[in-house]
Amino acid sequence: MYNYDILVIGSGIAGLTYALKVAQKSPNYTVAIITKADENESNTKYAQGGVAVVLDLLKDSFESHIQDTLRAGDGFCNLEAVTAVVTEGPAMLEKLITWGVDFDKNKAGNLDFGLEGGHSKHRVVHHQDITGFEIEQKLLAEMHRTPNIEMFSQHFAVELITEHHLKNSAENSALKTCFGAYILNAKTGKIDTFLSKITLLATGGVGQVYQNTTNPIIATGDGVAMAKRAGALIENMEFIQFHPTALYYPQISPSFLISEAVRGFGALLKNKAGVRFMNNYDERGELASRDIVSRAIDSELKQSGDDCVYLDCSHLDLVAFKKHFPNILKQVNDIGIDLKTDMIPVVPAAHYLCGGIKVNLDGQTNITNLFACGECSCTGLHGANRLASNSLLEALVFAQRCYLKSLALLGDIQAPKNIPNWNDAGTTNPKELILITHNRHELQVLMNDYVGIIRSDERLERAAKRLQIIFEETETLYKKSVISPQLIELRNMIDVASIIISQSQQRKENKGAFYKLGI
Ligand code: FAD
Ligand code: SIN
Repeated sequence: MYNYDILVIGSGIAGLTYALKVAQKSPNYTVAIITKADENESNTKYAQGGVAVVLDLLKDSFESHIQDTLRAGDGFCNLEAVTAVVTEGPAMLEKLITWGVDFDKNKAGNLDFGLEGGHSKHRVVHHQDITGFEIEQKLLAEMHRTPNIEMFSQHFAVELITEHHLKNSAENSALKTCFGAYILNAKTGKIDTFLSKITLLATGGVGQVYQNTTNPIIATGDGVAMAKRAGALIENMEFIQFHPTALYYPQISPSFLISEAVRGFGALLKNKAGVRFMNNYDERGELASRDIVSRAIDSELKQSGDDCVYLDCSHLDLVAFKKHFPNILKQVNDIGIDLKTDMIPVVPAAHYLCGGIKVNLDGQTNITNLFACGECSCTGLHGANRLASNSLLEALVFAQRCYLKSLALLGDIQAPKNIPNWNDAGTTNPKELILITHNRHELQVLMNDYVGIIRSDERLERAAKRLQIIFEETETLYKKSVISPQLIELRNMIDVASIIISQSQQRKENKGAFYKLGI
């Protein structure tokens, strides 16, 4: 049994920022970070465009960033959360810089601000087109310099520990407090008990429930599923954001992203015949918010029957392009695309979870001592559709808010006592992994086909019926099998898909990233 003051599940920007803030402020507190793959594997690592933040109050304003966020969110944002994130963002960006994160500068030596869809000003700070990689590396380096943080990579959080795991659970069944988590150590195959006074879920997104996604394979919604099973409120799951421009190249999975900043730099969306179409859908053209651009592309593809549309960069300053987007240029060059003469084939792909585990303005869930932060949480910032590059910013600001609240609470929390170890009922190793991998694939395809950019009641009903079969098969397997990460991920993906479907069925109004035919 392990015992810590703070247990952080996830090592992306949200988990690392929170852990660093607590540990550096209070060297006596012990902090454990649990992460299921290598320590740097995360959505954060792949972020391209950057962090949207208002730093130049002569050319930009908090009010403008707030209005852009509200407009993208289509009337569903929580104004308090939006105001907090926008106005507290600059200080957190400064903190990142003090931890060593390097952002690109212009010729005058000032931070270079990129432009992305839905923003009325240039305000996206970036490190070339690998901003997330830079942030992740520097946060990890800072974490390794902080002695009271212990990192457990290749450790998989299986379940949160709450009252219903306690020995006299009948008495406690109405209460909801988190005491830590059961963690599968991939090296030993054993499930260990990690007790903590405060637990932070920072497990990232759910993109892997879709066949076409920009998200890496870790993005299976484990935190949302665990929180749901523990009794947490989960909201706005129907608002899945599809990024308009994932590279159309079926051999690469997950899909490689062509950053929105490329359109901010002047790239144009065209059909196969080389004709622009975005102005037919929105006055902001290529720089309309993502929901609008993704639906426009979907509509063009449905009309033309083509597999993809194209990004034309041939008119751009390709020397400057190479400086800003070296990683994207390399990727397209590697598959034989010459930007002077060829257009980049692109399609929308599942990209971001706007909803998640419901938290208050301090990042607290409805379960005592359980916080959530980053993409797995729903703070109210994004409403029905996230504004580009607001996600890294949200993770930074809410990590700070979670940290402040945690410090205020920690002194009064008693370490739990009568927590039993994990009771693994299953005894057999699944002989055929295909039983798991096939169902994972089937789930991804059904979500792609029936629960995508455009939904309908008929498609959702089909999705629900088929998911029920996958659920029953997987539960049968789960009851008799020794637990494995593959099996747990599949169960979590089923839980997440099921919430997306049911919340989509309940929604009666098209908003932001949600669009259902016939309403
Ligand atoms: P993540 O960075 O995804 O970290 C989650 C962590 O939890 C990982 O370490 C994972 O291994 C761990 N984990 C998950 N489940 C478990 C489990 N069961 N047990 C243990 N550990 C677990 N946003 C922007 O604002 N700007 C951008 O430019 C931008 N570009 C993007 C480009 C791409 C290709 C993608 C995919 C996303 C982009 N986003 C961008 C979104 C942004 O990167 C993410 O929303 C953000 O990084 C999420 O951070 P996080 O800390 O919440 O989660
Ligand atoms: C991008 O670079 O287009 C991704 C930005 C984001 O997801 O916010």
